[in-house]
Amino acid sequence: MKKLLVICLLLISVSVATSQTDPETFLRCLVKEGSNPQVFISDVTYIPSNSSFTTILRRRIPNLRFDKPTTPKPIAIITPTTWSHVSPALACARLLPVQVRIRSGGHDFEGLSYTSTGPFFLIDMFNFNSVDVNLTEGTAWVDTGATLGELYYKIAEKSNVLGFPAGLCTTLGVGGHISGGGYGTMMRKYGLAVDNVVGSRIIDSNGNTYFDRMSMGEELFWAVRGGGAASFGIVMGYKIRLVPVPEKVTVFSVGRTVGEGAVDLIMKWQNFSHSTDRNLFVRLTLTLVNGTKPGEKMVLATFIGMYLGPSDKTLNVMNRDFPELKLKKTDCTEMRWIDSVLFWAGYPIGTPTSVLLKTTTVSNKAFHKRKSDYVKRTISRTGLGLIFKKLVEVEKVKMFLNPYGGRMGEIPSSRTPFPHRGGNLFKIEYLISWSQAGDDVEKTHLAKANEMYKFMTPYVSSNPREAYFNYRDLDLGSNVNSTYEEGKIYGAKYFKDNFERLVDIKTKYDEINFWRNEQSIPVRK
Ligand SMILES: Cc1cc2nc3c(=O)[nH]c(=O)nc-3n(C[C@H](O)[C@H](O)[C@H](O)COP(=O)(O)OP(=O)(O)OC[C@H]3O[C@@H](n4cnc5c(N)ncnc54)[C@H](O)[C@@H]3O)c2cc1C
Ligand SMILES: *[C@@H]1O[C@H](CO)[C@@H](O)[C@H](O)[C@H]1NC(C)=O
Ligand SMILES: *[C@@H]1O[C@H](CO)[C@@H](O)[C@H](O)[C@H]1NC(C)=O
Ligand SMILES: *[C@@H]1O[C@H](CO)[C@@H](O)[C@H](O)[C@H]1NC(C)=O
Ligand SMILES: *[C@@H]1O[C@H](CO)[C@@H](O)[C@H](O)[C@H]1NC(C)=O
Ligand SMILES: *[C@@H]1O[C@H](CO)[C@@H](O)[C@H](O)[C@H]1NC(C)=O
Repeated sequence: MKKLLVICLLLISVSVATSQTDPETFLRCLVKEGSNPQVFISDVTYIPSNSSFTTILRRRIPNLRFDKPTTPKPIAIITPTTWSHVSPALACARLLPVQVRIRSGGHDFEGLSYTSTGPFFLIDMFNFNSVDVNLTEGTAWVDTGATLGELYYKIAEKSNVLGFPAGLCTTLGVGGHISGGGYGTMMRKYGLAVDNVVGSRIIDSNGNTYFDRMSMGEELFWAVRGGGAASFGIVMGYKIRLVPVPEKVTVFSVGRTVGEGAVDLIMKWQNFSHSTDRNLFVRLTLTLVNGTKPGEKMVLATFIGMYLGPSDKTLNVMNRDFPELKLKKTDCTEMRWIDSVLFWAGYPIGTPTSVLLKTTTVSNKAFHKRKSDYVKRTISRTGLGLIFKKLVEVEKVKMFLNPYGGRMGEIPSSRTPFPHRGGNLFKIEYLISWSQAGDDVEKTHLAKANEMYKFMTPYVSSNPREAYFNYRDLDLGSNVNSTYEEGKIYGAKYFKDNFERLVDIKTKYDEINFWRNEQSIPVRK
């Protein structure tokens, strides 16, 4: 009787519905498509009239730029807890039709995982977050709604000599982060997260599920290891190979201003950081601090390092390869690898690892814009002087420099869609953040980011000017008309020669371009 009623309602709704994008219509479609009594998809679906809708939507929005009253909102949020919640949602997306957005950690720098220009619903993966560590194999299956913090925690819970080489920020989602590449402090030794993925599980637009690498085939498996899974389907999980970590690692952070010889140190850093012992990773951050005169600003260069081993070895390597920094034993702190995860994420030393299980985004949110660049030739002393001057002039822009080399230089550029391998000295991340709301304030800050980026042109890669896909930046182009030509503009920057292969795979597996967003892989027509 009840079922009959549902069907009747559905018939009526189809005939009288004024809009395909009305949440109630969508919900009725879900009920119909998910009619298997074991599924109850409506139990995990939130429509805007539901009092929890906004809380769920905002759970993983770390960037206030995409959390405004004017930000487009989904007509529904589905929070799958099992595989069978996904297929009915995709069926309705095809039927109505509406766009689908998939969110894991929600850290996309342009908010593409939870905003869209047209009507859309959101598949929010946060409930789908199990991590299954197999110590015998040294592997783990991790569901894509897990955060890196949850993943690292679950690994460390089982072993103190295994880790995983992925990102520094522990609230990143496995789904977006791994499908777009994923670098961290161990990349010089073990490569990227994608270099350590050995299996994957995917659902395609027809609701077909591929439970392993064999069933999906090598092409699709290649594409979702750096090409951005959102162009190809929903990745439900990745099987990863864990990597050995020592019982003790060593971290340090040493800052020097221009007056304290920062320029000389950076000249040396550019030369050694990519060629040194691959157990060593020394990130360089350039930020502004107050100068000696009132109102004066100057650049502070901070060398933040980690060595996969004890402090005496750290000092040996640093004194051999970077003696100019004069690193001292007292600068070094030995800790477990899992504690270094907290150190890099910005927690004070001694913070309990259980904070890694807190997976909603932080309360002190701000507005952010990020950009990226690759550097292949040493920047001259004169160049550095000019860059410092510019940083002071534009204010507020910070630069984080991550050295490459080591394992990164050995992996061929075509092994995964992520192409930025040999020949890169380091990657630059430009960061600008602000806390005051308002369109004018936003405009001013975005202009500053662009000014700094433009200024850097002579010092960074060109033809194409390369960028890291996971540092999504819509200034690099977008897919207004879903054409190959548009896609090639940003695609060549993110993927270089791998772009054409991604287009071929996209065309083969998603010819109707079901999975699309502002920077998805286009279909070849
Ligand atoms: C504070 C901060 C720190 C960062 N630090 C690092 C770092 O150390 N190293 C690094 O490499 N990157 C870093 N990044 C970039 C980060 O890797 C990317 O933003 C990444 O896409 C985030 O993944 P997510 O799941 O949190 O994002 P989301 O916003 O959820 O997703 C990003 C993209 O992936 C798609 N997607 C998500 N889940 C799935 C899925 N299951 N199936 C198919 N498509 C999916 C989304 O639709 C969207 O297109 C950082 C970003 C931030 C904001
Ligand atoms: C909101 O949606 C959730 C998930 O479907 C459901 O459990 C809950 O009862 C709804 N709440 C209200 C007030 O409708
Ligand atoms: C771990 O992997 C081994 C080897 O493949 C397998 O035999 C075993 O069943 C796995 N253990 C679990 C708990 O899945
Ligand atoms: C960088 O290293 C090369 C050789 O390894 C050396 O010739 C050059 O002088 C070094 N440059 C700086 C600035 O240290
Ligand atoms: C830097 O100087 C400004 C005033 O110019 C002052 O408000 C601020 O507190 C100073 N910051 C630090 C860290 O001393
Ligand atoms: C998209 O198509 C429209 C109409 O054909 C055209 O006017 C516009 O320039 C196109 N946009 C881009 C970015 O190619």
